[in-house]
Amino acid sequence: KKLGLLYGGKSAEHKVSMQTAMAVIKALDTDKYDIHPIYIFESGEWVRGPQLMGPVENVKELAFNSQEQIGSNALSTTLFQANDEASLDVIFPLLHGPNGEDGTVQGLLELLNLPYVGNGVLASSAGMDKVIMKNIFEVAGLNQVKYNSFIRSDWQSDKEAAYDCVEKELGFPCFVKPANLGSSVGISKCTTREELETAFIEAFQFDRKIIVEEGLTAREIEVGVLGNDYPEVSVAGEIVPKKDFYDYKAKYEDGDTALIIPAEVTESEYAAIKADAIKAFKALDCSGLVRADFFLTKEGKVYINEVNTMPGFTPFSMFPLLWKHTGLEYDALINKLVDLAVE
Ligand code: ADP
Ligand code: DAL
Ligand code: MG
Repeated sequence: KKLGLLYGGKSAEHKVSMQTAMAVIKALDTDKYDIHPIYIFESGEWVRGPQLMGPVENVKELAFNSQEQIGSNALSTTLFQANDEASLDVIFPLLHGPNGEDGTVQGLLELLNLPYVGNGVLASSAGMDKVIMKNIFEVAGLNQVKYNSFIRSDWQSDKEAAYDCVEKELGFPCFVKPANLGSSVGISKCTTREELETAFIEAFQFDRKIIVEEGLTAREIEVGVLGNDYPEVSVAGEIVPKKDFYDYKAKYEDGDTALIIPAEVTESEYAAIKADAIKAFKALDCSGLVRADFFLTKEGKVYINEVNTMPGFTPFSMFPLLWKHTGLEYDALINKLVDLAVE
């Protein structure tokens, strides 16, 4: 099978996608797949690299080193090759964040009749926008924190009213987040009105829409969901950041966040999390995979935080580790995802 790997991307999570892609490329079975890397620059230009032959020890062959190809080998010649020998059988979009995990790339692949791994247009776009996602979860009856959303232009016309609204309806601490992003980029925890102001400015740098949520003191528990119409749920894992919350540095730079798998949860807590993960998967009409992230309070109350339709995917990332502990090794997981894409 000719497998096109899309990675990089026009997103603030570009670097995270690079880590994901390097790991997936190393793990792919080159006897089973002809691997064709397709790199998307942060500027949005596409470049298709040479086919990777044999065991992929040296990722230098990857497309992103072929910078001279920009322009001459842009999006049109990269993918619009319907019937020639360079056409691809299936695409693995290893992209995180907007312009990749949000349904835009999925829509392009639909139009090109190319099967692809993971979630379709609707689940990807609804999962990317935290406000839409939470609205859908609300309708599905999932328990979650109180939240409010703000549009940049409304905020600009009356900032004090926006802060008043947060103070009155959500209180402190609260979390301010760009509506469409991931990896904690642009997210702040606020305990005062001054911090709220700084947080709004920060989050609005990434999006014209932001979400503000009531802040919980709770454990962070995550599960992996895998499948199409009959999804399965992995064991649960716990994230224990060494700092105030699980921010970008804690995720990718400090390296001192503990991932505890399986998480120490009671049977009934796990059952509730598992049921809610499936409910969330179905509510967004997901396919392939998601990582569903929860808060669990001391009293045993479960809140869904979010789903990630293309979760971080190195062998040390939560999603693959959860499946490893459930009995599916990294390379088998990747094969399974490709199989789910074409079933
Ligand atoms: P991202 O999509 O960027 O991962 P999240 O919504 O998961 O954004 O938020 C990132 C982190 O911030 C979470 O993993 C958690 O540590 C913290 N956090 C987010 N929202 C809340 C909340 N409402 N209460 C407590 N902690 C939160
Ligand atoms: N958005 C990052 C990649 C994650 O959820 O793991
Ligand atoms: Mg998260």
